Amino acid sequence: MENKLKRIYEFILAARELPEEEKAVLLKSLKSVDKEFQILSFKLDRTEKVKRTTAILLEETIEELEQKRTAVEKALSDLKATQKQLIHAEKMASLGELTAGIAHEIQNPLNFVNNFSEVSNELIEEMCEELDKGDTSEARAIAQDLRQNLEKINHHGKRADGIVKGMLQHSRSSSGEKEPTDLNVLADEYLRLAYHGLRAKNKNFNASIKTDFDDKIGKIEIIPQDMGRVLLNLIANAFHAVDEKSRQAPGEYEPRVTVSTEKTGKGITIRVSDNGNGIPEKYRDKIFQPFFTTKPTGQGTGLGLSLSYDIVKAHEGEIKVTSEAGKGTEFIINLPLS
Ligand SMILES: Nc1ncnc2c1ncn2[C@@H]1O[C@H](COP(=O)(O)OP(=O)(O)OP(=O)(O)O)[C@@H](O)[C@H]1O
Ligand SMILES: [Mg+2]
Repeated sequence: MENKLKRIYEFILAARELPEEEKAVLLKSLKSVDKEFQILSFKLDRTEKVKRTTAILLEETIEELEQKRTAVEKALSDLKATQKQLIHAEKMASLGELTAGIAHEIQNPLNFVNNFSEVSNELIEEMCEELDKGDTSEARAIAQDLRQNLEKINHHGKRADGIVKGMLQHSRSSSGEKEPTDLNVLADEYLRLAYHGLRAKNKNFNASIKTDFDDKIGKIEIIPQDMGRVLLNLIANAFHAVDEKSRQAPGEYEPRVTVSTEKTGKGITIRVSDNGNGIPEKYRDKIFQPFFTTKPTGQGTGLGLSLSYDIVKAHEGEIKVTSEAGKGTEFIINLPLS
C-alpha cells in the first residue's frame, strides 16, 4: 500500500472512538482507493514508457527523413543537369538535321555566283575585242551586261550569307530579341529546310507540300529563330507522321503536309497539318510534356513540342492540336498582334 494511505489506514485502525462497523467500511474504501491508485500509477508508468519509445522512434524517423530529403535534393539536381544536357543535345540534333537542308540551300546561290562569274569572264574578253576594234558603243553595251551580272553575283552572295547567318542563329541560344519578321518567308524557309534535311537522310522520302500564305500579314514582332524552331518542330513531326504512314501503305497513299498562315481579327493563325496516322487519344494530353516521345530511342528526345509550347507561350500565344486517328493531325498556333 502507498505510504500516506498506509498511515491513514493505521490511524483508522487505531481510532478507538470509531465504531467497529464504520471502521470496517472506511478501511474497505481505503483499500479500494489504494487499488485504484496502483492501477493508475501502473498506467502512468506505461504511458511514460510509450512516450519515451515514441520520442526515440520520432528521432529516428526525423533522421531518416533528413537522409531522404538530401537524396531527393541530389536526385533533383542530377535531373536538372541531365535535362540541360538533353536540351543541348536536342539543339545539336536539330542543327544536324538542318545542316543537310542548309547545304542544299547554299548550293543554289553558289551555282548562280559561279555561273555569272564565268559568263562575265567571257564578256570581258568580248569587250576587249570590241575595244580593239574601236567599237566603243558595243563595248559600253557589254559593260552594261557586266554590271548586271555583278549585281546578280552580289545578290546571290548576300543570299548565301543570309543562310549562313540563319544557321549560326539557330545554333546559338536565342538572344530573345523580338524583331519585325516576315512570317511567310520564315515558314517557307523552315519548310524547305525540314524537307531537304529529311530527304538527305532518307532518299525515299517524298511528300507533297502545300502552302497557303496570307500576304496581308506583313511583318510581325516575333523572335525569328525561336518561332523558326517551333515551325521546324511542327513540320518535322508532320513529315515524320506521313513518312511513317507511307511505309505502312506504300503506293496507295499520298503523303501531304500543309502549312498555312492567316491574319484574323484577333491576330495571326499558323496551321501545320498532315494526313498521317494521327495522334492516338491516349497520348493527346501527353504530347506537350517534356521528353514524351513515341519515336525509337535515339530518334527523338520528345522536347520538340514542349519547347514549342514554351516559345509560343513566351509570345503570348497559344498552341492547340486536333487529330483524328488514321486521318491526320493539325497543329494550330494563334499569335496576338501586339
Ligand atoms: N503530326 C503528328 N502526327 C502524329 N503524332 C505526332 C505528331 N506530332 C507529334 N506527335 C506525337 O507527339 C510526340 C511528341 O512530339 P515532340 O515533337 O515533342 O517529340 P518527338 O518528335 O518525339 O522528338 P523531337 O521533336 O525531340 O525530335 C511524338 O513522339 C509523336 O508521338
Ligand atoms: Mg518533334
